[in-house]
Amino acid sequence: MTEQQLVSILNQMTIDEKIAQLLQLAAPFYEGAEGEGQITGPMAAMGISKEVVANTGSVLGLTGAQQVIQVQKAHMNNNRLGIPLLMMADIVHGYKTIFPVPLALGCSWDMQLAERTAEIAAAEAAAAGVHVTFAPMVDLVRDPRWGRVMESTGEDPFLNGEFARAFVRGFQGRDLTGDPSRVAACVKHFAAYGAAEGGRDYNTVDMSERQLREYYLPAYQAALDEGCEMVMTSFNTVDGIPATGNSRLMRDLLRDEWGFDGVLISDWGAVKELIPHGVAANEAEAARKAIQAGVDIEMMTPCYVRHLRDLVETGQVEEALIDEAVLRILKLKRKLGLFDNPYRGADPEREREIVMCAEHRQAAREAALKSIVLLKNEGVLPLQEDRNIALIGPFAQSGDILGPWSWLGEQEEAVRLYDGLRAISGANRVVAARGCGIETGTDAEWDEALRAARNADVIVLALGEHSEMSGEAGSRANIRLPQVQLELIAKLKPLNKPIVAVLFNGRPLDLHGVFDQADAVVEAWYPGTEGGAAIAELLYGKHNPSGRLSMSFPYAAGQIPVYYNHFNTGRPQGAPDAQERYVSQYLDIPNEPLLPFGYGLSYTSFEYSEPAISSGTMTPEQPVRIRVRVTNTGDVAGEEVVQLYVRDVAGETVRPVKELKDFRKISLQPGESKDVEFILSERQLRYHHTNLERISDPGDFIAMVGPNSRDTAELTFTLTKQ
Ligand code: GLC
Repeated sequence: MTEQQLVSILNQMTIDEKIAQLLQLAAPFYEGAEGEGQITGPMAAMGISKEVVANTGSVLGLTGAQQVIQVQKAHMNNNRLGIPLLMMADIVHGYKTIFPVPLALGCSWDMQLAERTAEIAAAEAAAAGVHVTFAPMVDLVRDPRWGRVMESTGEDPFLNGEFARAFVRGFQGRDLTGDPSRVAACVKHFAAYGAAEGGRDYNTVDMSERQLREYYLPAYQAALDEGCEMVMTSFNTVDGIPATGNSRLMRDLLRDEWGFDGVLISDWGAVKELIPHGVAANEAEAARKAIQAGVDIEMMTPCYVRHLRDLVETGQVEEALIDEAVLRILKLKRKLGLFDNPYRGADPEREREIVMCAEHRQAAREAALKSIVLLKNEGVLPLQEDRNIALIGPFAQSGDILGPWSWLGEQEEAVRLYDGLRAISGANRVVAARGCGIETGTDAEWDEALRAARNADVIVLALGEHSEMSGEAGSRANIRLPQVQLELIAKLKPLNKPIVAVLFNGRPLDLHGVFDQADAVVEAWYPGTEGGAAIAELLYGKHNPSGRLSMSFPYAAGQIPVYYNHFNTGRPQGAPDAQERYVSQYLDIPNEPLLPFGYGLSYTSFEYSEPAISSGTMTPEQPVRIRVRVTNTGDVAGEEVVQLYVRDVAGETVRPVKELKDFRKISLQPGESKDVEFILSERQLRYHHTNLERISDPGDFIAMVGPNSRDTAELTFTLTKQ
């Protein structure tokens, strides 16, 4: 279908049909959908007529090939011009085969892996009739009190950008029109949703435009640069105006400056939320501000359908704004081939064949193996298979390991840690006992756990947060493990048996009472469908852990926000001339996080040579090469993430003490060495100046190479521009 034909459809549409095309409703509004007609609560209050439903443009959360075909068929029968529905859903880290949460995948530092997980998620979702996924979420995060850090890949703009690209490639492939096994991606939440004050979800975000552009926008830009088809607005304010009604952010920056001409969708209810935010007196004003900001689709509130016609007829909104929004939606439908085949990839047979198939489960297991981070190991891991294990804790036999965005996953299908351990060591080597629940415990549970522990050689604790304790609206002010779990550790400690703590959680935790008490700590996050199997394989050394933290673990919540690429201040702790007291510090805790960005242990050891640099001078034409030799000095094969950081010693503005510029994940056999070479160019030294120009400053720089953001070796060079 040509653009001309699309325009001709547009020209045949009545104003009501055009406006309804800008509405997205959830599945229950559609005949033939599961739960059809069970429209209750806020949805019932929306008072959406059947005529409007017959003309809406897209559906939220409808999946299953049969269902989608049924709903689309009914819709095509009702829609006067035969405009098909777009089926959109949150396929964030897997459809039914659930992969580790994105914060875990972020710890893999493996873009091919990330792309593969998105490709599989897309294949399963597309077979189930999904056209668009509300992913990747690329919000930069520095505050683990925020529940949605689990959905991000972490605290670094460069690493997040690489993951954003990988996820978009995986979801969309190279030919979205010709390949019905892919789905359109929708990068979210634009913008800076992760910077909510106090880590409290939906809270205010307020920062300089420079900060926004330097740290929070790059990953969205990377996703769009990779061809991401859609953008979703965020709930928060940006510089005093909610993103969903923020013309400066959406029209001026996203559309005009960045040239994004794809579909912009509001987050759930975010158009109407302009009223409680206090920038719209009523739904009509909310509709006006959102359409003027360039928001094409209103998700799940009726401001557009109730007020846009009147706003046009009274000259408050130009109809052209509505036309351009409709045309963008029609173009996306065309790109997805929906005018030629409204059922696109929906295929019940293929759905049965590939969803949760062995190949996909194997990919989920591999993803978990590479996302899990070994945080501590004092000689207790890997486990010997002939040792008796007491597996204790609320996650010992729990299927709640899929994470908060696994609404289509099945916990019953998840491999529990108990199953995983027994699959390797045999049924009689592992005794499981809950010991306590997530937040409560009973004497009987404790007694059972104590008996199991007494008879075991090693205690493996399976602890953490249930999946409702993170994710959307899952902010926590106290980010320690629940008290009952800390007491469980304390009560087991006097048995003087090796304790391995495996953590299932959606955020960096304050690990007081865990890190200091356990002999080994394994961060499993929410590892997905194959989580228990992957953890067991790592605990028994069938695979060597290779995850590296993509978000800092604070020493205490009082440190937050704590992140590696911080500024030095005028009174840095530890400076040669630093005074005892009058420096930037806490009186009661260290400044440094408990565990830094990039950190992770292995069952082997790696040695770094002194790094070398090709020249002490860099010019815009002449990059420098930085080389380091890494040797596996242990006796098992392993993977290492060699990281390159840079510090701009004196900029026009203050500059971070270090910034990740490149990394290489390498595999080394025992005794093997590899030379890793980074090419560092002037472009990589550019940053936003006070005039918002993105340029580099001539002057001295420090390059740092190492296995994480803390333990690095330094080199210096000078950038000259003449
Ligand atoms: C939710 C989330 C967003 C999601 C949308 C649709 O509120 O903020 O990430 O895509 O609604 O489910």
